[in-house]
Amino acid sequence: MTLTSSSLPSEIADRLRGVELPEPLGFGRLMAPVMSLAYYRDGAWETPRLTGLDPLQLAPHTQALHYGQAIFEGMKAYRNLGDSPADGPSLLFRPYEHARRFNRSAARLGMPELDEQVFVRALEELVAVLEPLVPGQQGQSLYLRPTMFGATADLSVVPSTEFCFLVLATPSDAFFTAPISAWIERHYSRAGAGGTGCVKAAGNYAASFAAAAPLRENGFQQLLWLDAVEHTYLEEFTAMNVFVRRGETLLTPPLSDTILAGITRDSLLRLGPSFGLRMEERQIDVHELTDAIQAGEDVEVFGCGTGAVVAPVELIGDETGLRLPLPAQSTALELRKRLLDIQHGITPAPEGWQWPVGALPDGPQA
Ligand SMILES: Cc1ncc(COP(=O)(O)O)c(C=O)c1O
Repeated sequence: MTLTSSSLPSEIADRLRGVELPEPLGFGRLMAPVMSLAYYRDGAWETPRLTGLDPLQLAPHTQALHYGQAIFEGMKAYRNLGDSPADGPSLLFRPYEHARRFNRSAARLGMPELDEQVFVRALEELVAVLEPLVPGQQGQSLYLRPTMFGATADLSVVPSTEFCFLVLATPSDAFFTAPISAWIERHYSRAGAGGTGCVKAAGNYAASFAAAAPLRENGFQQLLWLDAVEHTYLEEFTAMNVFVRRGETLLTPPLSDTILAGITRDSLLRLGPSFGLRMEERQIDVHELTDAIQAGEDVEVFGCGTGAVVAPVELIGDETGLRLPLPAQSTALELRKRLLDIQHGITPAPEGWQWPVGALPDGPQA
């Protein structure tokens, strides 16, 4: 059952009263005052329940604070702008893919999995009550942040036995609305073989903060990571997968244990052929890229991810003083438009991609 305003617990209804979307919306400016919360104790998950966005009580020796046993997902509910309002006012994008990746992250960090149906149900329930906070313009969304962390208070270096699952929400603009600049990171690495680069471990992001300092000092926006062994092959951006178009071919590095299996990346690999593009998953030498740009070849570079959707790159730089402007990015913008049209229900979605809120399925979808 989806909660309706008349069946909302009064505590939740009170929290929502009078909350308005900020102008401009930005990204993360307004945290929704309601979240979904569940604990794992004695070997089982509670059913996630809606509650106010209040501070959590954590012991100073809570495991996640010391050993980083924490994971998250980033996903979105979009306003349905299509001709099928019966599908519901909001649409989740590929929620079961996010549920599966969340569980892969959980498994990698020694945490208990959460039933996919329970995960999606928690999202649906939260989006249903936050419906007035799902913004209405194309590209805007209710960004959703499922999170899990080790909640046992214990300084021993062993996995927690208690865990906390949260879903937070924030009405947002797309993370990037204009072309971005990318900083080739030549010194630090994001991920090593056998590590946690292929899952959404919180520590992966903390480890990028120091590397991002020179990027910010030089006015750049995203790190472009290279592989940890040779510092030669493109891996991904700070929080996006990378694509390079050379002529009619769209290249992206193959998935490995150092690259996050982006759901947007997968979506673009499936949409690309309908634009006449040949999709190729192969290693991309950074010199191949910089040489092609310097030679004036027909090259595009863009990032893709839930937050940014598709973000064209207009400038590539690095610590050696390299500054390579890129020409206008038409393929990136076409792919971005097609994806947003699908996400907003304007263009029919491939099976299982578009998930109307309120329609609880019988089972996991492809
Ligand atoms: C490191 C990293 N790579 C890629 C992505 C893109 O993944 P997705 O398209 O599933 O959002 C993200 C964002 O989640 C990320 O944090």
